[in-house]
Amino acid sequence: MLKNNYTFSVAPMMGVTTPSARFMYRLISKKAVLFTEMIATQAIYRGDYNKFLKKNSIEEPVVLQVGGSDNELLKFSTNLANKYGYQGVNLNVGCPSKKVSQGRMGACLMKEADIVRDCIKTMISESSSEVSVKCRIGVDEFESYNFFKEFISNVSDSGCNTFFVHARKAFLKGLDPKKNRTLPPLKYDYVHRLKREMPQLNIIINGGIQTLEECHNQLKSVDGVMVGRSIQANPFFLEEVDHQFYNQKMRSLEKNQVIAKYFEYVKENIDTVSTYELLSPLLALCFGIPGSKKFKQEVNDLIRNKDLEKLENTYLNLIAA
Ligand SMILES: Cc1cc2nc3c(=O)[nH]c(=O)nc-3n(C[C@H](O)[C@H](O)[C@H](O)COP(=O)(O)O)c2cc1C
Repeated sequence: MLKNNYTFSVAPMMGVTTPSARFMYRLISKKAVLFTEMIATQAIYRGDYNKFLKKNSIEEPVVLQVGGSDNELLKFSTNLANKYGYQGVNLNVGCPSKKVSQGRMGACLMKEADIVRDCIKTMISESSSEVSVKCRIGVDEFESYNFFKEFISNVSDSGCNTFFVHARKAFLKGLDPKKNRTLPPLKYDYVHRLKREMPQLNIIINGGIQTLEECHNQLKSVDGVMVGRSIQANPFFLEEVDHQFYNQKMRSLEKNQVIAKYFEYVKENIDTVSTYELLSPLLALCFGIPGSKKFKQEVNDLIRNKDLEKLENTYLNLIAA
């Protein structure tokens, strides 16, 4: 089985890491491992799974993230991940949303390590690619280091040895998902200690990383870094990832070429992909420009009217300026 190099990953983000965004990220970094948004196994089972699971081969390596705790549904989803050619399958044990908890998915499962272990065992037995877990360091009142280590140790008995850890606990009662990404304090020391005490595991740290320098510092203590919102806000965050983390020759990345290639993609997909999905990665490229609110509105109007020529020129002018 081909192993992924998880030195640098782009975090799964619902409504963000769509196939379109992943297409754009791949124009900027060839090596960073990409993740899909979380897809509930019930949705895969009941829905139009071609719609949920379709991916471009240009996105690879890309990992499918699923949410669920029903062995049969996980089996079904893992087999589809094989069929669609994902380079890995990841189980979400970190999402704190009420709806997700009600479906017995996400962070609430941190209280049920035995169930997670059995789910992962099932996934490993079905998967032709690597199976991994993305979790928090704790949940609700279960916030000690020993709870965290016990959870990982129990789940790793399934044979899984790759863990992505958002270094905050999830607080299921009272905090919405957005606050759950900022209010519980980051405890990187839990994740570093885990790696020291269980060096045989592949530990990837996530949460609050804002610069490549921070990534390098983290890599002194863990095996990989996973970055979410910093890339959502500015996809060019990925610009030097291949060079700095994967020993690739520094490429001079022409931003106007990234824009032009993304527009080719938009034109090919404008009739089949939602304008929202196509638009979102473009809006992120307005990062930090003066008057970006007005600019975003202009971009919004142009894409709604499907005036792609004008939109592309607007972007190319922006980059040139
Ligand atoms: C809009 C948004 C959607 C998210 N959706 C998911 C998801 O589908 N699955 C998941 O495991 N984490 C999800 N997360 C959490 C991120 O993967 C990540 O753990 C979190 O944002 C912390 O990393 P960061 O500080 O680098 O953003 C989401 C985060 C954001 C901002």
